[in-house]
Amino acid sequence: MYKILKADKLAANIYRMVVDAPRVAKHCQPGQFIIVKLDEKGERIPLTICDYDREKGTVTIVFQPIGESTTEMAQLQTGDAFEDFVGPLGQPSEFVTEDLEELKKKRILFVAGGVGTAPVYPQVKWLHEHGVTADAIIGAKTKDLVILEKEFEEVCNLYVTTDDGSYKRKGMVTQTIKDLVEEGKQYDVCVAIGPMIMMKFVCLLTKELGIHTIVSMNPIMVDGTGMCGACRLTVGGEVKFACVDGPEFDGHLVDFDQAMKRQQMYKTEEGRAVLKAKE
Ligand code: NAD
Ligand code: FES
Repeated sequence: MYKILKADKLAANIYRMVVDAPRVAKHCQPGQFIIVKLDEKGERIPLTICDYDREKGTVTIVFQPIGESTTEMAQLQTGDAFEDFVGPLGQPSEFVTEDLEELKKKRILFVAGGVGTAPVYPQVKWLHEHGVTADAIIGAKTKDLVILEKEFEEVCNLYVTTDDGSYKRKGMVTQTIKDLVEEGKQYDVCVAIGPMIMMKFVCLLTKELGIHTIVSMNPIMVDGTGMCGACRLTVGGEVKFACVDGPEFDGHLVDFDQAMKRQQMYKTEEGRAVLKAKE
């Protein structure tokens, strides 16, 4: 069993849990994900890693209840435990294996949207710990949905924007990208993680701007094992599986329209809940 050492809420419908999982904490890298199971019969839920502490042996996950299982998961409290906590899975972010001196020369922009802010955090933190200070944009619908602001401020140059202008900048993340570039900022790499529609529009913009862009296709995963086929996507004309080949891919090569159609089709947990109800 994997004990929840701390459970709290980051925003109205966004939950954070620090889990005692020393083996995962020892090996995980930014960009990877884990799978949790609430109990023996529970379904497998793939979730991105928000933070890890190798010394304490803990892994932090952040999630938004969107279906039956994550709604059940949100009821868990400090002291409760997961039946299973498997990982790390998927490929680490590409910069983890890059030559550090080359990496230090790069001007990197992170674009984090909504709950997608959580998996961006270990990436900016890792870079900060390796002497690279990146710029990061956090975008949220409204002030109350901005998460991890303090944590980000400690490890990068942060720009916060809200769709309704209730906090800091006003507008979507793409507006802030345009503003920063107009102000004279230059970037070699952009890492965009958030809702599919956000990643699609960030990619359209960065393609115009000539900025190499990485996206995380985590949202289309279902079982996270390479078995169900739900996370199949086309990248540069080739078939890939988000959970095995990714979750991160060159965003300019991803067929977002196809991936979004597949996401609608499987609707991950909702789809499985319906199937379960029919059993
Ligand atoms: P949201 O709808 O509040 O959007 C977050 C931000 O994305 C917005 O504030 C805006 O700045 C930007 N955005 C949205 N639509 C845009 C558009 N058309 N053009 C430009 N920018 C746009 O996000 P949310 O409700 O917190 O997101 C939940 C989604 O995040 C879920 O669908 C989940 O699958 C996804 N998610 C993705 C990852 C990942 O790895 N990619 C990880 C966790 C969650
Ligand atoms: Fe099932 Fe990738 S999530 S094959």
